Amino acid sequence: MSDQSASGDLQNGGNSIINAVEHFVEQQVYPETGPRAHGDYRNYEDPARDSVRDFYRLNHRHQTHDFVIRQREIHLGLNRCRMNPFEALDFLNTLIDDSDPDIDLDQLQHLLQTAEAIRADGHPDWFVLTGLLHDLGKVLCLWGEPQWAVVGDTFPVGCQFNERVVYSEYFADNPDTTHPVYGTPQGIYQPGCGLRNILMSWGHDEYLFHVLRQYLPEPALYMIRYHSFYAWHREEQYNWLCDDHDREMLPWVRKFNPYDLYSKSPVPPNWSELKPYYTDLINKYLPDTIAF
Ligand SMILES: [Fe+2]
Ligand SMILES: [Fe+2]
Repeated sequence: MSDQSASGDLQNGGNSIINAVEHFVEQQVYPETGPRAHGDYRNYEDPARDSVRDFYRLNHRHQTHDFVIRQREIHLGLNRCRMNPFEALDFLNTLIDDSDPDIDLDQLQHLLQTAEAIRADGHPDWFVLTGLLHDLGKVLCLWGEPQWAVVGDTFPVGCQFNERVVYSEYFADNPDTTHPVYGTPQGIYQPGCGLRNILMSWGHDEYLFHVLRQYLPEPALYMIRYHSFYAWHREEQYNWLCDDHDREMLPWVRKFNPYDLYSKSPVPPNWSELKPYYTDLINKYLPDTIAF
């Protein structure tokens, strides 16, 4: 498949490629809580595998330092629109494509199941709210961003790519790999500078962190910002960039991850029944409208 046609398919794939990428992480890369990546995830027989591989080929080729800078300039002004949080959840849920019958959760169901699993374990209400909101940044897809610039594992740019990132072989196609600064082990960073001072590959995590940063407690913001940074929270890489604050927050990011990956419930939560509870919760932490 040419780069262009893969890009076209991935742009037109709607919800299905997003779900396929997340299903791949859950079923083939980290099929149980805790252990590191399956080294043999590339060998699994799965009809969705080729599209996931094509997804990462594009993601790893195009997520360069300069691309991230441009995306931040485009999106972090948060001047596209203001939406009520429920409006945003409804809007996200228009991202539906039922072309893949095996992976048929819509976005709202994934968020609700994550939140309900957190609530069932008796965690604080801001943690439950984080479960409900954590993927809201995927609205980027609805504003024309290709899926490879919205979902998938995230990683720092501006320094050498780490081989524990999934499908890291595709970084060979990224121009930063041979860049005289960005391709070096430390790149533009000082050891211990803190994750807040590094540029992550662009996606829904970083975007939503900026959307919600003034409203949620710090552990919630770490869960949102780094939930796809598997090379850090699961593979224990990139510790050289971390400071004490990152080390303090890491257990929260790890606590969140199983709810994101493994919280499919046999009986899907009923949104209309749960809406009163979540309305109160949203109103407790968020204003009537938030800037996107
Ligand atoms: Fe996510
Ligand atoms: Fe998620």
